[in-house]
Amino acid sequence: MPNPADDTPLAGAVHLDPNFTVGEVNPRLFGSFVEHLGRCVYTGVFEPDHPSADADGLRTDVLALIQELGVTMVRYPGGNFVSGYRWEDGVGPAEQRPRRLDTAWRAVETNQFGLNEFMRFADKAGVEAMQAVNLGTRGLQETLDLLEYTNHPGATAWSELRRSHGVDKPHNIRLWCLGNEMDGPWQLGHKTADEYGRLAALTAQAMRDLDPGLELVACGSSSRSMPTFGSWEATVLEHTYDHVDFISCHAYYEEKNGDVDSFLASAADMEAFIDGVVATADHIRAKRHSAKQINLSFDEWNVWYQSRPHNNTDTPDWSVAPRQLEDAYSLTDAVVVGSLLITLLRHCDRVTAACLAQLVNVIAPIMTEPGGPAWRQTTFFPFADAARHGRGQVLRLNLDSPVHDTADHGRVPLLHATAVQDGDGTLTVFAVNRDTTRPLELTADLRAFGPAGPVWHTALADPDRHAANTLHQQDRVTPAQVTETRADDGRLKALLPPLSWNTIRIALAP
Ligand code: AHR
Repeated sequence: MPNPADDTPLAGAVHLDPNFTVGEVNPRLFGSFVEHLGRCVYTGVFEPDHPSADADGLRTDVLALIQELGVTMVRYPGGNFVSGYRWEDGVGPAEQRPRRLDTAWRAVETNQFGLNEFMRFADKAGVEAMQAVNLGTRGLQETLDLLEYTNHPGATAWSELRRSHGVDKPHNIRLWCLGNEMDGPWQLGHKTADEYGRLAALTAQAMRDLDPGLELVACGSSSRSMPTFGSWEATVLEHTYDHVDFISCHAYYEEKNGDVDSFLASAADMEAFIDGVVATADHIRAKRHSAKQINLSFDEWNVWYQSRPHNNTDTPDWSVAPRQLEDAYSLTDAVVVGSLLITLLRHCDRVTAACLAQLVNVIAPIMTEPGGPAWRQTTFFPFADAARHGRGQVLRLNLDSPVHDTADHGRVPLLHATAVQDGDGTLTVFAVNRDTTRPLELTADLRAFGPAGPVWHTALADPDRHAANTLHQQDRVTPAQVTETRADDGRLKALLPPLSWNTIRIALAP
């Protein structure tokens, strides 16, 4: 075991071979989430009075950051919000839309932003839409109405209504979530696994009758710590196996009681979550003698300080777009986010969609001030690196790493890493050094890849692990180039700073 008083570099190695792959990364792994919650929509992506707003009321400064972040897909409109939402409130002339109570977040929803505004946002941001439907207070009929409105070309009541709203061509949304966190007692219209499974199966069948090519996500567990974890997925999939493509997973992590080592090892929980859901889905598959594989949509994941008082929902009741869940992320949080991204990549054979929750202001990589600037949180950087460079084949790698003991996750490696080889001849190693005081010298034998180099290495690190980017210090934490990293004679040698997220790109011969 390493000695914590010592700051001499640790040593770790990755062993990899181009022939040993996990699978191809689905670009949907780099999704995010826009919920009608706090200031995610209003004064986040949508602020008609903002100096940067375009004709659709979208903040172009935020759109530019979303594109830089590399988000590929956005889930909408919730979240807990969707389980009480009437989608019809958000379409048609804005001045006629009703103000409603949103009981999930104890806010007032003005409905000035709805489905068609979201689809214009998705188009401008260059992202795929992932649409969630209300299976809390509503059900099959309202879902079919929504699907007809969004995806049917015309000559029916709902599709003509869309056309009368100025949207001539159908939105053609392919990916749909059948409700949100229906296992959670907090959820409006919460159901047992049997109740939800049957409703989800019937809704999925009816949706496919209308539009056979849809891809559908059944609700899995809202956390691995739910008492129903495992049995919920099994029961829901018994009902829905033939009718859906994905089962969802949600997970949020935070540092509790100053136990940074457990927090930095949060990916161990995500890994166990994924393994457990894959095992459960494959068990149902085996029982059904099915040729079909159900994949995982990890459609809410992030760091979220749920236990901090300002994050409770007891902010002023029934106000419009209150400041809720506006976590300011530290360097430590960014390293955890990086580690969670590594875990998603390492399971890209089964996790084929995922959403960082959320996108703007609400537990988000992008922050804004009403009428003011937009800036990047620390967590922006690992996501942007992974979304840009985590494309191609994930390699099955073995790690040699020093380990340490954590209270919550037992013995974990201090080095956490994955590698991705893209089609244009670049090998990218994403690596986290979980040690808070010592650098880690990372080596890798690259000779199986042929001639290697040059190498580009960026690291996100800071002497103050609590450092964050704020309105007043927007660029306090940014990635830095590490120019000493080499891949001479087919051997990579890189020094990972203490507590750091690292992106190491190695040019390979074509
Ligand atoms: O992302 C914040 C909330 O977390 C979502 O509304 C809900 O689905 C989850 O519990």
